Amino acid sequence: MVLVSVRDYEQRAHEIVPRNALDYYRSGAGDELSLRLNRTGFDRLRIRPRMLQGGSKRDLTCTVLGERFALPIAISPTAMQRMAHPEGEVANAKAAANRQVLFTLSTISTSSIEEVANATPNAPKWFQLYIYRDRKLTEGLVRRAEKAGYRAIVLTVDAPLFGLRRADMRNKFSLPPHLT
Ligand SMILES: Cc1cc2nc3c(=O)[nH]c(=O)nc-3n(C[C@H](O)[C@H](O)[C@H](O)COP(=O)(O)O)c2cc1C
Repeated sequence: MVLVSVRDYEQRAHEIVPRNALDYYRSGAGDELSLRLNRTGFDRLRIRPRMLQGGSKRDLTCTVLGERFALPIAISPTAMQRMAHPEGEVANAKAAANRQVLFTLSTISTSSIEEVANATPNAPKWFQLYIYRDRKLTEGLVRRAEKAGYRAIVLTVDAPLFGLRRADMRNKFSLPPHLT
């Protein structure tokens, strides 16, 4: 099948990604009420047509922290991408770089900070940080991101503890052993 939309990719993923990983990616916490509300929320958005405004010169470019991007939309941090594809975060970062879109690397990535930086040396990237109780470990991550040229730290503040992910509980979710 030719994949032409996000929904097509999602459907394909349902066919080929192992259950353990797929459920981790697709599930929400508890009864998944917020997940459903978010979907409904996005479905409510409409694009307002603006006719006879001279649409031949369209421009979605924007500047964020002094860097120019093609879209005012960035790739937010999502964990453990190599469960879906052997290149994982590296492929995602390369795709973002090709399209001049901002990529954010998750703390819980399955490609290292340096691997992703080396694969996309000229593209601005951000690094998402969880604050661990082990402050030395936390600082170590910040220093590595800084050294590897990440331009900003994206601080996650809504995870004092992880959600009750029932799909993961049912699957006894764990990272496949070939990944770190
Ligand atoms: C599978 C998955 C993994 C995620 N992993 C992380 C993560 O590692 N760190 C983080 O700060 N946020 C993580 N998030 C949260 C996203 O970055 C984002 O904030 C959230 O999904 C809301 O955006 P959305 O409505 O576009 O999905 C994850 C979300 C999903 C769905």
